[in-house]
Amino acid sequence: MADSGAAAKRAAMYGEVDLGSFELFSGNFINYGFWESVPLDREITLEERTRSQAALYRKVVSALEVKKNDAVLEVGCGIAVGTELTLREFRPASLVGLDFSEAQLARARAVHGDLLDLREGDALKMPFADNSFDKLYSVEAAQHFEDLAAFAAEARRVLRPGGRLSLATFFATTEQSPRELAKLIETIADEIDFAVPIKRFCGDLADAGFVDVTVESIGDRVWLGFDTWTAQLAQHRDSWGRNWLKAYRCALADYFVVTASVKN
Ligand SMILES: C[S@@+](CC[C@H](N)C(=O)[O-])C[C@H]1O[C@@H](n2cnc3c(N)ncnc32)[C@H](O)[C@@H]1O
Repeated sequence: MADSGAAAKRAAMYGEVDLGSFELFSGNFINYGFWESVPLDREITLEERTRSQAALYRKVVSALEVKKNDAVLEVGCGIAVGTELTLREFRPASLVGLDFSEAQLARARAVHGDLLDLREGDALKMPFADNSFDKLYSVEAAQHFEDLAAFAAEARRVLRPGGRLSLATFFATTEQSPRELAKLIETIADEIDFAVPIKRFCGDLADAGFVDVTVESIGDRVWLGFDTWTAQLAQHRDSWGRNWLKAYRCALADYFVVTASVKN
């Protein structure tokens, strides 16, 4: 469990700091991006950087198989540009965006007005009744959750029978790799991020009652693009952000889309 100093740093990162306005992220998204359709052999534009982050949303939400009557929940919605994309492109009956940062939600409301149903709350203790949703997704938020087993249990609780979960973020590849990763990635050393072994998270989902757990490695389409973008930015060229590609190439970390279902 992280100490309270780490929790405070995590809160500050999404509080007074507006990461979504940083060039490293762009377009009010805050994720490493899915770069499949962006050419990396020439200068990347800011529009392409934003597009990579929207593409990560499309990748995750496509795996949910959204139907028109579905009630959908996004966990860790941030400034909710991906929430808005999901509502517009996938057209569920309803969509709620949940985030534990009041500041992020204030930014989201400044961008989207009343268009979206946004709620404040913790992924580990969601403010919803049992069986509230058909589908649940999360884009690059779970690396901050202090207890993925508690998250899995909450996700299972709020999903209805026949429900489905889709989640993307980075995970450690083995039980041994978190220690090595902490040497490379400052935010892991500081416990702002947790690099949980992927097999452990799959076990948490199964223990919570999920079935048909699938894992897709997409690191090949995340880290090279993010690294190429970071290398382009003068102020980030020598930053810790460059170590993600090294960690991926040393097989310490990968980026995954994980899906799981609730039995009917
Ligand atoms: C890296 S940002 C991703 C935001 C958005 N999904 C995107 O891709 O642009 C992570 C988000 O997760 C939220 N978050 C972190 N821990 C959380 C928790 N325990 N419960 C709910 N939200 C959390 C943060 O406030 C932040 O907005």
